[in-house]
Amino acid sequence: MPRSAASRPIRLSETVDSLSDSTDGRAASDDARQFWREAFRSVRAETERRAALLSAEDQVVQSMPDTSPTKWHRAHVTWFFEEFLLRRFAPAYKAFDESFGYLFNSYYVSAGPRQGRPQRGLITRPGAAEVTDYRAHVDRAVMALIDSTNDFAAIMPIIEIGLHHEQQHQELLLTDILHAFSLNVTHPAYDPRWQWPKGEMAGAAAVSVSGIHRIGHDGNGFCFDNEQPAHEVLLQPVQLSRALVTNGEWLDFMADGGYGTPSLWLSDGWATVEAQGWSAPGYWQHTDGAWFSMTLGGLRPVDPSLPVCHVSYYEADAFARWAGKHLPSEAEWEVAARAETLDDAFGAVWQWTRSSYSPYPGYRPEPGALGEYNGKFMINQMVLRGSSLATPAGHSRKSYRNFFYPSARWQFSGLRLAEFEH
Ligand SMILES: [Fe+2]
Repeated sequence: MPRSAASRPIRLSETVDSLSDSTDGRAASDDARQFWREAFRSVRAETERRAALLSAEDQVVQSMPDTSPTKWHRAHVTWFFEEFLLRRFAPAYKAFDESFGYLFNSYYVSAGPRQGRPQRGLITRPGAAEVTDYRAHVDRAVMALIDSTNDFAAIMPIIEIGLHHEQQHQELLLTDILHAFSLNVTHPAYDPRWQWPKGEMAGAAAVSVSGIHRIGHDGNGFCFDNEQPAHEVLLQPVQLSRALVTNGEWLDFMADGGYGTPSLWLSDGWATVEAQGWSAPGYWQHTDGAWFSMTLGGLRPVDPSLPVCHVSYYEADAFARWAGKHLPSEAEWEVAARAETLDDAFGAVWQWTRSSYSPYPGYRPEPGALGEYNGKFMINQMVLRGSSLATPAGHSRKSYRNFFYPSARWQFSGLRLAEFEH
């Protein structure tokens, strides 16, 4: 976690249930209102703290269709509260600017037409300062609603998902500006003082899992709908590495011709290697006989002892094949994580699994616009587990399912290996 981007550890998911119990369904206790006021303030402030290191010029750039400008992230998470909370539960609310719905809706088709995703960087107006005003306008309205509503039970789940949504964008804010900075030959640092987080990295020991286990979210505290229903899985005996794959191991893979050996790669992966000219992880460059990597602290020497980062699913899969192993399934990962047996499960790099992003048995998206949050993306993507150095404190869970396309590598993504017991 960059020091300048360290979150206040507000553990939304652990606190919510006890407070929910204290509401009688419509009214809310003073404690509950106070908790949500503080949670709202804290999460909103974290976004601004991460953005504060970036100039207005930094905040407008979009370096590829998959990334979004900082300013857009700041406005979009605000629009989320405006669209799904204030418009529905605060009848007297006046929109800050009616055109913002078009500019800052992401992918919610049922919420109306929207700016094309690849064109978000063209939104030079409103400027960053006006987005700050927009955020303040919505903040005031949400605080007033928390104080005044007679139907707290109805608004609480919307505030809750809105805050978790904003935390997701806090991570994207960093991954996206890092991609933009990686394309600047002067290698700007997001935070010159940034350091890789201290990890556990215990070594090469492995942990065995097998048999019937329950995975998914059990219903205590917040989760996204894709983590449910909880259900039983049958695992064949398998050993998961306690440690993440390191840069040093990745250098061995490279030295052994990993990026030039088609038999190690899935067909789509090899096509991507050829099309993109990949010969090293994302953001790596070879200069004067040494490898360097673009980080949140600028260009830094590659440290062989640290976890490898910015690799795609295709690369992770090829590495595993080269190592004579495979990636864990998400169920294998979750069972091992629940047993507290994985080092660096959280806080370093998201870990690719070999599981495609599919609905759990019996999954049904919520009705209405918020049903678009996760369910419609359950195709052609792979699941990552854990969390990364950019994930806000209090946001991760053992049942959390992140997902990206198999060629994506601008996230803080790495891997650990698994091996079936014979
Ligand atoms: Fe979003």
